[in-house]
Amino acid sequence: MEEEIIIQRALEISKKEFKKYENKINPTHCFDHTERVFSLCKKILTFHKDADRLVVLVAAAFHDIGRIKDDYGRHEVWSKEITSNFFENDDKFKKIEEGRKEKILYIIEHHSDLDEKNTKGLKAQDEFKIVVDADRIDSFGPIGIIRASLDERYQKSAKEQLKHIKDKSEIDNFSLNSLGGQQIGEEFKMYLSEFMEKYERQEKIGEL
Ligand SMILES: [Fe+2]
Ligand SMILES: [Fe+2]
Repeated sequence: MEEEIIIQRALEISKKEFKKYENKINPTHCFDHTERVFSLCKKILTFHKDADRLVVLVAAAFHDIGRIKDDYGRHEVWSKEITSNFFENDDKFKKIEEGRKEKILYIIEHHSDLDEKNTKGLKAQDEFKIVVDADRIDSFGPIGIIRASLDERYQKSAKEQLKHIKDKSEIDNFSLNSLGGQQIGEEFKMYLSEFMEKYERQEKIGEL
């Protein structure tokens, strides 16, 4: 099916580009993260039969591609720019309707906005929520803990890494907003709270 070919093409291009720059990117954001977000989106989509699968999966494949240019600044702006270039230059993507391309680029540009309460425009639509939720779920659970400890931004401070994990485990921070995201992600989010409890217990064990 044509749409599946386009989706696979997006993932392949993303992989190829990431591999070129892999040693320059913070290990927490390498291609394996994109691949997991892509797979999570596929799973979340099973709860959203009316969502536009192509929009979600192409946006997932390219959401962090900008990290190959700028890993620590506004990578999402670069992601949009690079994706837009692929859309113009790759014949496969010429078959995507303009409206859907705009939607993909919007999701990519805004995927890390963190304005939870925004219920207007494209942010209120399932396609946007699914990509953002999948991106978040990859920072929860055991994978989230491993990623936090690999994250070069916190390399010199275990305390900072733990604070990062703790922030993510607070109920009001980083909510999951799509039905499928909630169904799949809550258990991994809860795991962060359990991890923090155990960590604190272990750290204070001599004081018991
Ligand atoms: Fe991102
Ligand atoms: Fe991401």
